[in-house]
Amino acid sequence: MVEDAASMLSRNDVFGALGTSRAVRRFAPNPVPIETIEALIWAATRAASPENDQPWEFVVVTDAATRAEVGRLVAAAADMHAASLPPTDDPSVRRSQESAKHLVRHFGETPVMIFVCHHVIDYPEAYVQAGVGFSGVFMAAANLLAAARSLGLGAAFTFTHMLAGPDLPQLLELPDDVAITVTIPVGWPLGEVGPVSRRPVEEVLHWKRFGLREAT
Ligand SMILES: Cc1cc2nc3c(=O)[nH]c(=O)nc-3n(C[C@H](O)[C@H](O)[C@H](O)COP(=O)(O)O)c2cc1C
Repeated sequence: MVEDAASMLSRNDVFGALGTSRAVRRFAPNPVPIETIEALIWAATRAASPENDQPWEFVVVTDAATRAEVGRLVAAAADMHAASLPPTDDPSVRRSQESAKHLVRHFGETPVMIFVCHHVIDYPEAYVQAGVGFSGVFMAAANLLAAARSLGLGAAFTFTHMLAGPDLPQLLELPDDVAITVTIPVGWPLGEVGPVSRRPVEEVLHWKRFGLREAT
């Protein structure tokens, strides 16, 4: 049943993109057309947000000088980042860590840097505790990743901005009430982008009661 659904869904653009939305961190140097970047921001801004407050702003960096400057800020933290990764014997986790390290060292070569920012909204404390402040922005970022994949681009959801420190918001001239939430490097992927590896539906789907595996 789930297999039938999977083969049906692979013929659908949205599901096809979701099924191959790997984190891509190595890019060809070719530029991405401005209209394509605008289309990605359109897709991102179709996302839902609490009370439709749309707390997002997108700062996109494509010019060589600024990319190099951002790249320097990020690469300065490369050793600290590498040391922070937990030791692992799992080859797939190790590959992912190597890829993440590569991105940090070579961030300045990323053709399109998208800094997904949020307005710091004065939510009630309970909302803050529940992560509401970021939730809309995360939805927008997820849309952007799927849209990028559907256009043949590679992208990744990252917190790379946290490595760059306070010089980055200053470089981007962010106002005091706007903060970077997610950093999405985007570009044409080097090589094939294979399917994502995720827990199977059968393992995570429960019908009516936790643990019941048959649809009722
Ligand atoms: C909330 C979140 C934070 C992440 N932070 C980073 C990050 O800072 N740097 C990075 O290279 N990848 C980051 N990733 C990407 C994950 O490492 C990646 O999606 C995961 O290893 C699975 O790999 P795959 O998407 O290629 O299958 C993040 C993903 C999520 C959802």
